[in-house]
Amino acid sequence: MALANNGDDIIMYTIVDKVELAEGIFKIVINAPLIARNWKPGQFIMIMVNESGERIPLTIVDGDTANGKISLIFQVVGKTTKLLALKNVGEKIYSVTGPLGKPSEISKFGNVAVVGGGVGVAEILPQAKALKDAGNHVIGIVGARSSNKLILVKELESICDKVYVCTDDGSLGYKGFVSEILSKILREGQTIDYVYSVGPVAMMKAVSEVTRGYRIRTVVSANPIMVDGTGMCGACRVLVGGEIKFACVDGPDFDAHQLDFKTLELRLKAYTKYEMKALEDFRRSGCNG
Ligand SMILES: Cc1cc2nc3c(=O)[nH]c(=O)nc-3n(C[C@H](O)[C@H](O)[C@H](O)COP(=O)(O)OP(=O)(O)OC[C@H]3O[C@@H](n4cnc5c(N)ncnc54)[C@H](O)[C@@H]3O)c2cc1C
Ligand code: FES
Repeated sequence: MALANNGDDIIMYTIVDKVELAEGIFKIVINAPLIARNWKPGQFIMIMVNESGERIPLTIVDGDTANGKISLIFQVVGKTTKLLALKNVGEKIYSVTGPLGKPSEISKFGNVAVVGGGVGVAEILPQAKALKDAGNHVIGIVGARSSNKLILVKELESICDKVYVCTDDGSLGYKGFVSEILSKILREGQTIDYVYSVGPVAMMKAVSEVTRGYRIRTVVSANPIMVDGTGMCGACRVLVGGEIKFACVDGPDFDAHQLDFKTLELRLKAYTKYEMKALEDFRRSGCNG
């Protein structure tokens, strides 16, 4: 870890840019020079929006070493992401810790597919860049519920050799799921040597089921609830090949054919009642953190 919330960086966690990429999905750029200098694709930060808030993990989507800035892309789903979305350019984030987690494996695999769903499309962007730079032929497959939720298609098109777009409602591209496109490409005889996928648990599971039959090495970024992000609390435990792993220090990337998606999904839902109450109380308070 390069930095744990001290020194100059704490002064530096100022939002320097903010854009709403799609409905409820924001990109923010933050001053964080040490993290920008040390991050690698696949790593994340733990962010505390204000002093009394909880810590949540967000993937580092980009890091500008020269200017000391990192980019984060997040979807508003609950209290903390809503609080973050209310911050504007010029305002500071209370704490940003990272880079955390193991960097993704980037090698020359050959033909690679990066598969992203929803806000997961943001998380495959750094992978696509790094895999392309490593000499791979890179196919992007991206999807969202509807076209107004789809992000970063142009950015991926500028990196990948080919990008397939799909939406659940058919408002843009193929009507259906990313896993169906992957399956179709494979049935048509396209060789794929490696798949990297990020998105909702059900999506990553479906992608994993498609590639299992073809024995294609498949890696997913697991997204359990995290508390400290440094391997101490056990909140992020996942089952991989029958063994307990902590996603924050052993991952977040894991072999999709070994990861137990069922327990991941169950654990993600464990606090839904409390998360809904926190959001409701936050709204009632007039969105005061
Ligand atoms: C390593 C890692 C990297 C992540 N990177 C990103 C990212 O780049 N952009 C982004 O938008 N999100 C990312 N997430 C998910 C993000 O951390 C959660 O959406 C966030 O913690 C929700 O906080 P909240 O208080 O707004 O919502 P909560 O009130 O905590 O939850 C609201 C809803 O979101 C669901 N939820 C909570 N935590 C997660 C989670 N970890 N994954 C999926 N659903 C969750 C809950 O089940 C609930 O339905 C990442 C998660 C991990 C583990
Ligand atoms: S978040 Fe606490 S051990 Fe991983």
